Amino acid sequence: MKATDRSDPVILGHVLGEHRELHAAIAAVRCLLEKGEGSPDVSGDDLVSALNTLRHHLADHFAKEEAGGFLEESVARVPRLSKAVAGILAEHPRLLAEIDALIESVPTTSMPPEAWRSCGEGFGRFAGHLVTHERNENSVVQEGYNEDLGLVD
Ligand SMILES: [Fe+2]
Ligand SMILES: [Fe+2]
Repeated sequence: MKATDRSDPVILGHVLGEHRELHAAIAAVRCLLEKGEGSPDVSGDDLVSALNTLRHHLADHFAKEEAGGFLEESVARVPRLSKAVAGILAEHPRLLAEIDALIESVPTTSMPPEAWRSCGEGFGRFAGHLVTHERNENSVVQEGYNEDLGLVD
């Protein structure tokens, strides 16, 4: 793990606030998936576009977390968190690869109901992994800073 300057609490608050925004972006994709199965007005392109928006948002969020220093700061304060933090950081590329595979799997021609269902299932699995990731991150930071940041559900 690279050495970083001490983390900035403003950045910390901002990045953790983004977890709530990510939940909203996930809900937007879910809503589209539900609508898509029964509506001819929603296309596979709309789904790809919503997934790409979430993907960009995520890549930006992960980059901020990796540069923010607060995960390292949590380890500096509470060394036993080191394994959990290494695990969390290793998940970033895996989560991006998972959403990339999902985007790739959306049919570009037409979207029969089975395709909507299969995309819905794939997205459900991805969203579950992402929500667990963010929850673990919140827990680590909360423990590292030994403060009740009101983050853990
Ligand atoms: Fe993260
Ligand atoms: Fe995060």
